[in-house]
Amino acid sequence: MKALILAGGKGTRLRPLTFSIAKQLVPVANKPVIEYGIHAILEAGIKDFGIIVLEPDSEIERALGDGSRFGAKFTYIPQPNPLGLAHAVKTAHPYLGDDDFIMYLGDNLIKSSIAELVGEFQQHRPAATILLTAVPNPQDFGVAQMQDGKVLHLDEKPKEPKSNLALVGVYLFDKGIHDSIAKLQPSARGEYEITDAIQSLIDDGLTVRSHIVTGWWKDTGTVEAMLDANRLILEDVETKNDAVCEGKSKIEGRVCIGKGTRIINSTVRGPAIIGENCTIEDAFVGPFTSIDSGTKLVRSEIEHSIVLADCSISDVPDRIEGSLIGRGVSVQRSDTRPRSVRLVLGDSSSVVLT
Ligand code: DAU
Repeated sequence: MKALILAGGKGTRLRPLTFSIAKQLVPVANKPVIEYGIHAILEAGIKDFGIIVLEPDSEIERALGDGSRFGAKFTYIPQPNPLGLAHAVKTAHPYLGDDDFIMYLGDNLIKSSIAELVGEFQQHRPAATILLTAVPNPQDFGVAQMQDGKVLHLDEKPKEPKSNLALVGVYLFDKGIHDSIAKLQPSARGEYEITDAIQSLIDDGLTVRSHIVTGWWKDTGTVEAMLDANRLILEDVETKNDAVCEGKSKIEGRVCIGKGTRIINSTVRGPAIIGENCTIEDAFVGPFTSIDSGTKLVRSEIEHSIVLADCSISDVPDRIEGSLIGRGVSVQRSDTRPRSVRLVLGDSSSVVLT
């Protein structure tokens, strides 16, 4: 069995971050989102990965390499026009050939293991296996209507959902999916939907198995979802402290801190993760915070936030919370007159002042 990870698409809902970083590379607990999926697939014993990217030599390819770092083989498949998930599979057909494959959306995070699903797929050999989970906003997803434990009908982002069961971004297919995709017409939103291709398998009388995901699942496409995913991952963070602690510093709860980081007269209250070579001075790092390597936090407080690498945050008067701060960002306070707020913000940035 092969794996197909979808990491094309444009990530518009995570702007401005996604102007400079692919959404699948935005870190959750200091690890790019896409790497969680890669590890879950590796755990299921699959080592041959096709990765859909927007363009040749993409940032994703440069970040992940040829797969040897993961003990796997990565083949990058450019899809310059992201015309939908089914279009991505069509683009990958020469790589997939007639093999069974697991398709994993590169911006999805699920807690459950997928090894069991792969085993079950190989034993029962359905045309497809889909994963479902109950959500409060089914209109934002593919939605499944079930009857007597069987999938009756699937709709992509329906205005009036017939159930609250959303399609999770993990699918297993045999080669039959390529015939369904070949017959597809674009949907009302102009995309070739994998949801419609799976519906066509059902219409042809083929077996589509479903599983309800019991652990949590997150589509990390929005800032809120990203922070929520960060919270969920940090719930399980393992304590590891390679920091140098100086002065009256306190490390409370489960906290993971990387090498070369200095904690000076500060409190870090877990669950939290701080990368390598950071400086946390006269500061407070509160629960559910991820701070990536090379960042400085001085005379400031932060919680429930994600800060990417090489930022400098100092003398911020109010506690920062619920924030997603991109690479190399500087947030400072100045005492010079006139007292004013000075901003240099990229397109689509968002600032909330109190
Ligand atoms: O997250 C689960 C949902 O994912 C499902 O419930 C929906 O049925 C499914 O259509 C999909 O909806 P999204 O609107 O969330 O898909 P999105 O456009 O965000 O793309 C998901 C991933 O696939 C993302 O990593 C980008 C990548 N992608 C997307 C498109 C449209 C590609 O690689 N190529 C594409 O053409």
